[in-house]
Amino acid sequence: MKNVLVTGGAGYIGSHTVLSLIDYGYNPIIVDNFSNSSPKVIERLEKISGKKIKLYNLDCCNKKDLDQVFKENDIFGVIHFAGYKAVGESVKVPLKYYENNIISLLNVVETMANNNSNNLIFSSSATVYGDPKSVPIYEDFPLHVTNPYGRTKLMIEEILQDYVKANPSFKVALLRYFNPIGAHESGLIGEDPNGIPNNLMPYITQVCIGKLDHLNVFGNDYDTPDGTGIRDYIHVLDLARGHSLTLKKMEETKDNLLIYNLGTSKGSSVLDVVHEMEKVVGHKIPYQIAPRRAGDIAECYANCDKAYQELGFKTEYDLYDMCKSSWNFQQKNPNGIR
Ligand code: UFG
Repeated sequence: MKNVLVTGGAGYIGSHTVLSLIDYGYNPIIVDNFSNSSPKVIERLEKISGKKIKLYNLDCCNKKDLDQVFKENDIFGVIHFAGYKAVGESVKVPLKYYENNIISLLNVVETMANNNSNNLIFSSSATVYGDPKSVPIYEDFPLHVTNPYGRTKLMIEEILQDYVKANPSFKVALLRYFNPIGAHESGLIGEDPNGIPNNLMPYITQVCIGKLDHLNVFGNDYDTPDGTGIRDYIHVLDLARGHSLTLKKMEETKDNLLIYNLGTSKGSSVLDVVHEMEKVVGHKIPYQIAPRRAGDIAECYANCDKAYQELGFKTEYDLYDMCKSSWNFQQKNPNGIR
């Protein structure tokens, strides 16, 4: 079984990906410093998978610690999820974002190179497209970012492209995620934000469970059918599977730079999500129209033909499944993963 190092493997997308890797016959090894996740996630992953999962509690900014992991294990590939991800915070403390996200990536690549590990998947984001000229968004659209978080994603994409040019035996996949929501059907793992959520789905589920009073819908005057923002919500289990398929592809292909959008190719508005969740919970969800949120765009959804043609990536879950599993996770973990 090939060992795959998953940095940020206790986080939201990382933890679901660990399960998918096991399904696809890989042996995931988690690196996490639990700066934004709970060590309990590891126990829960072991419970779901029935497997012991190797864990290194360390910070990827510490190159020596990271190198030790490679010395102790033969690592076929790395999936690098670890990083700060709050857009608003990144505007307030940009240096924290540049330091953590860039240094950890440089350490990962350098350590891989020193240990002859040659397959890297990087968690990128649809944020690299900025305000796209049209939708759906294709991988060859111009890239443009509007905040430090997004800039770390774009900078890393560029660093990795420079690196593979200089080192053709090193393979990189840049996966641009659209909006992951949903949770594992067990309700044991899911999105577990600290404090008041920034993102739509955890905010809605906290309204539904009574922790928050109502949802603020950020703007209903966008140029969209119901005036609210449109995004491409993808079930985190589908997104997780996209990583395993990418690793399989990396085993076969000679290409050393792969770039894919991972979404559903379908846009849903904020009110579409609210109404779908109302079907799940069986009652109206209180919301108020609030001013637009700074930096938001009207519409963002993917064309995912490339991932389908080259990886066989096809999503299996719809918006109802996403809402249902998010709600199940929230109910089973009213105070998060504690
Ligand atoms: N929204 C609300 N109320 C809320 C939260 C969100 O109306 O309380 C709206 C937003 O205005 C937007 C939609 O819900 O129209 C989705 O917002 P999210 O914050 O859930 O997601 P974003 O699309 O803003 O951001 C996400 C990730 C970022 C990533 C970005 C682009 O959180 O990391 O997609 O890929 F950069």
